[in-house]
Amino acid sequence: MRKKVVLITGANGEMGHGLIQYLAENTDVNIVALDVTPLDKCLRPLCSTYIVGDILDQMLLGRLVVEHEIATIYHLASILSTKAEYNPETAHRINVEGTLNLLRLATEQSQWQGISVKFIYPSSIAAYGIPTLKEKSDAGSVTEEAYNHPTTMYGCNKLYCEHLGRYYNSYYRQLSADCGTNQTVDFRAIRFPGLISAETIPTGGTSDYGPELLHAAAKGEDYNCFVRPDTTLPFMVMPDAVKALVLLEDAPKNRLSQYVYNITSFSLSAQQIFDIVQKAFPEANIHFAVDECRQKIVDTWPEQVNDSAARRDWDWAPDYDCERSFNQYLIPAIKGRYSL
Ligand code: SER
Repeated sequence: MRKKVVLITGANGEMGHGLIQYLAENTDVNIVALDVTPLDKCLRPLCSTYIVGDILDQMLLGRLVVEHEIATIYHLASILSTKAEYNPETAHRINVEGTLNLLRLATEQSQWQGISVKFIYPSSIAAYGIPTLKEKSDAGSVTEEAYNHPTTMYGCNKLYCEHLGRYYNSYYRQLSADCGTNQTVDFRAIRFPGLISAETIPTGGTSDYGPELLHAAAKGEDYNCFVRPDTTLPFMVMPDAVKALVLLEDAPKNRLSQYVYNITSFSLSAQQIFDIVQKAFPEANIHFAVDECRQKIVDTWPEQVNDSAARRDWDWAPDYDCERSFNQYLIPAIKGRYSL
């Protein structure tokens, strides 16, 4: 039997690193990795093919379809929230048109193969937009449907692509003569909280103060945290993020009652992160220097999200709570990494 082929876009990013390592260690799928930058050398032996290319390059995507019978696409490529604000139209092209290209590719593959290609899409807490700080603290843990009024280009892109995925899954070319007989894509999305990895540092996000603070302290570098100490967001460590992608991919379709699922692990204020990090790295030189513009963005994102649908439909539960995340994963791994 031919091995299952999994296409990963944004393979060189934070999530790409975690996902490729996990799939290579725990499954026998063939990984086709795509990124605009040359794939990290440590990931290359784990992939059957790696391609340097742009998700906006339709010729390249066309060739991919000819050469591989893709069963699952993890579409991780994206311009994050802070970076997107510096060039919103370019971000829109990459985040939305890029996703549209991949959805079309997945649809074509589904029709050729006669089975639904799974399309796993990481969305984000950036899809939310809570109007005031008072509402943010009163909102408690928000469900997928609440406060869908993002204030960033990235958040708008993520929310819209969730809808695009739903459209391609269920309504694509709904007026065509062969409507209802053609295979469509099997779209599944997760709204991730802020992610923290021991291996990599994100670039261009607005929840990045969490990982940046931790990595800077471990490296002995000074760091100015760009949000107020009371700023609270939900967070999760990378092994749980990867676990969620793989669990959702594997879930039986008939158990899924929605296209988009919140997940979370723990919520912390920036002060709480500071305290944990300061205790682990007493020499750390970290201060708060608020960037009002980035602060405004984080203030619209929820303190907590309600992930009961994911728990019910695909047995989601994080393996790492706050204590385990820092004490058994982040701090020891990061200490080892920078003491080399
Ligand atoms: N971590 C992302 C960002 O800050 C949010 O999903 O842009």
